Amino acid sequence: MSDVELLKKEAGIAACAFVTSGMKVGLGTGSTVKYTVIELGRMIAEEGLEIVGVPTSLATEQLATEVGIPLVELSDVSGLDVVIDGADEYDSDFQLIKGGGAALLREKIVAQESRAMVVVADDRKRVDSLGAFPLPIEITPFAYQSTIRALGRILDCRVNCRMAGDHPVFTDNGNMIADAHCGPTLTQPAEIEHAILGIAGVVQVGLFIDMCDAVVLAGQNGVETHLNPNGRLI
Ligand code: A5P
Repeated sequence: MSDVELLKKEAGIAACAFVTSGMKVGLGTGSTVKYTVIELGRMIAEEGLEIVGVPTSLATEQLATEVGIPLVELSDVSGLDVVIDGADEYDSDFQLIKGGGAALLREKIVAQESRAMVVVADDRKRVDSLGAFPLPIEITPFAYQSTIRALGRILDCRVNCRMAGDHPVFTDNGNMIADAHCGPTLTQPAEIEHAILGIAGVVQVGLFIDMCDAVVLAGQNGVETHLNPNGRLI
């Protein structure tokens, strides 16, 4: 296992400390939180942990099923106790860019329904200003080139349609992803989120504003948990 992979595993497992029996848990998507999902499955099998999960993607649904986490529909429960998820970037105000794995819409719906959000990350994800990671934006297939042009105009940067080889990437919701190459300039992410959501054709943007309550961060010196001083876990 590479050094980065080990850090992802450490962070993913450490975040399970936020989960106790009886909880309804949002299960994020990505290569870090997959270790959380696997560990929760182990805790259910070996330690008698009793939880139900709501997955944020078809990939996580499959993994959670494989490791034995009972799943429920978000619509069938009255909110979740916590969601644990990865991030592509986070800044000092605990604002996030997410969607590198194209799961941002379901991730944001699940986060919005959760009483707390815990992010698992390795130390490459911490940035001073968001935006070096291309900002993922879920858009409708209808007139997607027009929507991409509109995004380019308001963001004043290059925006491209995410491709897998010769074909556009389609999300679990049948939509497409535009990636905006803003550079590390998103110092007012709430305003940017608002402007992007004002464009018809945009389904959702991967800026998660005032949602993250804690980051479980793995680095060379071990795992640290950073609580958002303005968050719900203080
Ligand atoms: C999925 O769409 C994303 O939001 C991921 O949670 C994010 O890209 C972090 O993934 P990794 O843990 O794989 O870096």
